Amino acid sequence: MDYKSSGRISEDISTVSFGGGGFWGDALFSEKVAGRILDIALEQGVNLIDTGPTYSCDNAEKRIGKIVGNRWRDTLISTKVGTARSQNGRLIKDFSYSGMRSSLSTSLKRLNREQVDFLLLHSPTVKDVLSNEVQDFLLEMKDKNLVRYVGLSSGGITAQEGIESGVYDCVMLTYNILAQEEEKMFALAKKQQMNIFAKSPLAQAFYSPSFFKINSPRRLWYFFRFLKTHRHNIRFTSRIKKALSVDDRSLTEVALKFVLSNEMITSVVIGTSSTENIKINCNVPNQPELTPGQIEIIKELPNFKP
Ligand SMILES: NC(=O)c1ccc[n+]([C@@H]2O[C@H](COP(=O)([O-])OP(=O)(O)OC[C@H]3O[C@@H](n4cnc5c(N)ncnc54)[C@H](OP(=O)(O)O)[C@@H]3O)[C@@H](O)[C@H]2O)c1
Repeated sequence: MDYKSSGRISEDISTVSFGGGGFWGDALFSEKVAGRILDIALEQGVNLIDTGPTYSCDNAEKRIGKIVGNRWRDTLISTKVGTARSQNGRLIKDFSYSGMRSSLSTSLKRLNREQVDFLLLHSPTVKDVLSNEVQDFLLEMKDKNLVRYVGLSSGGITAQEGIESGVYDCVMLTYNILAQEEEKMFALAKKQQMNIFAKSPLAQAFYSPSFFKINSPRRLWYFFRFLKTHRHNIRFTSRIKKALSVDDRSLTEVALKFVLSNEMITSVVIGTSSTENIKINCNVPNQPELTPGQIEIIKELPNFKP
């Protein structure tokens, strides 16, 4: 594992972080296996877990709280505010002071912590990012020591406004082989000494050879998620495979190496529900760098259109 110490964050962050959501956090997925996967990640040197109050049908934070417990007390945790569940169970946006305060209290309880290391606005609008109510809330939570660093999980113009406001310590951007447009935010973030986390760094791995072998609830879950976000990109699969076939490494290892090779990325936040894949992913920082020519070919891939 590699670590980076840069920007506004005072400690070393593992360049691979654990995405504590998705199928891994779902009640359908065995808690015992989920625990084994997270243990492997932490044993391999991962020191940051990213999650959110509504991830995995509201089950992810509870699961992390139980597994991490006292055993992995030094692990850094990042969670979100701004997405909540309405009374009829639907996801709603709520960036009001009272909504965010109540969301953070619930997260702390579920995570079994007195403080979270990172609190990010979950897919806010420009208005939310610049609102005094939101910014005052975040600074107050820092003052009260309930939160150490604040940030936003966003993209495009919202991310840009957030970065330029100077209020936020970090930004979580979708950055992967098919989503390279956010690179234009990197110089802005550097100017503010902000840290950048790459979410969905594998572009959900739909180009991986086993992706369409739908032989388990896990594969079915991923298939429906693919239909939601990446079905338009299926036509690029053979081009993606060609660009990522650089040597005997798997396509996903090369895709991840591409993201890690950008010096502006503090850490990649990967989701997995596989004991094999977590080991592979944690080893990618130790693998040889891609050549400038290989990077160039990946840079020419089309950008993700949702
Ligand atoms: N709005 C937000 O704040 C937001 C949005 C998106 C994501 N995120 C964060 O980013 C994390 C990851 O995002 P994500 O799940 O969308 O995307 P991802 O990490 O790009 O992809 C996850 C997919 O890749 C597969 N995978 C992982 N390692 C693999 C390997 N070595 N070989 C082959 N397949 C592999 C996983 O399947 P297996 O389970 O089979 O390994 C899963 O299907 C989330 O958990 C969350 O923390 C945040």
